[in-house]
Amino acid sequence: MTLSDYLAQADALGADCRALLDGLDPTTRLDVAKGQLNACKDDRLAALQEALRALPAGDRRSAGVAFNALKQAIQAALDAFSARQTAASTGGLSDGTMPARASWRGAVHPVSLVLDEISDIFRELGFTVALGPEAETEWYNFGALNFPPDHPAMELHDTLYLGQDTLLRTHTSPVQVRTMQRYAPPIRVLAPGQVYRRDFFDATHAPAFMQLEGLAVDEGISFVDLKATLAEFARRFYGATRRVRFGPSYFPFVEPGAQMDVEVDLGDGRGLRWVEILGCGMVHPNVLEAAGLDSERYTGWAFGMGPARIAMSRYGITDIRMLYDSDVRFLEQFAR
Ligand code: PHE
Repeated sequence: MTLSDYLAQADALGADCRALLDGLDPTTRLDVAKGQLNACKDDRLAALQEALRALPAGDRRSAGVAFNALKQAIQAALDAFSARQTAASTGGLSDGTMPARASWRGAVHPVSLVLDEISDIFRELGFTVALGPEAETEWYNFGALNFPPDHPAMELHDTLYLGQDTLLRTHTSPVQVRTMQRYAPPIRVLAPGQVYRRDFFDATHAPAFMQLEGLAVDEGISFVDLKATLAEFARRFYGATRRVRFGPSYFPFVEPGAQMDVEVDLGDGRGLRWVEILGCGMVHPNVLEAAGLDSERYTGWAFGMGPARIAMSRYGITDIRMLYDSDVRFLEQFAR
């Protein structure tokens, strides 16, 4: 093929494509139009590309330029058709005074906001994040955590069993055991995750909710470390002047067990009052041993809290269900 033949064929193809698109009814669907265009051009375009290589070296440059221009011309013709098609499908109507469609911007959910903020604080205190499965075995969820075999929490009416010895974890504490099995002390981890209980959905309970577990294990760890770390967390999270208090509590996997309360104003007109925000305690020696650690050498402390409850105390939310309703008017108030 000579250069002038090549240029003539390129011109002809461009003209054919334009004629095809110009001849289409503007209400033709875009994919149908593209189908017809491809049928008209694909083989011929491929042949032209092939022919480029067969041309004498001196002609290749001008032919290449023509080839690229052809491709651009075809695209421009398709764009022009697409514009006509859009105008036709909107009936050619356009009203510059019409209000724009409302558009939504995604935002971080208040529970996630709180979770992120708490993780940031504990990260500075040396904690990394650990995760565990939501479908857990009885042993990790209960047995290794020093629950006696007949503990009421293991009853069918409290726990959602999946069959055999697997269940939906009722707390994130099994991640304590998994972490101690996998990593040697010193351990400092934060384990966020979803947990499940056979609870009714009411103002203060949800059957599926987020928990945040913390665990520190090393030689010589004492209750002082627990108190100091958690009080420091509360000061950073709620403000330096906020009062916290610890009181005795019971969980089979800690000894002694405690709860931490923070003085907060829930915005319900009742002013400042004590709200329990987490359960905690020194890791029970039986738990350390179950996870394969020497309880004579190592000690540790742990806590568990519900970020939804924390979000409520932080933002003055009085009904936990509002956090799960996905009502944008509510969620928007916390969007960052
Ligand atoms: N796992 C306990 C719960 O679900 C919370 C907790 C964790 C308490 C760690 C003490 C230590 O309520």
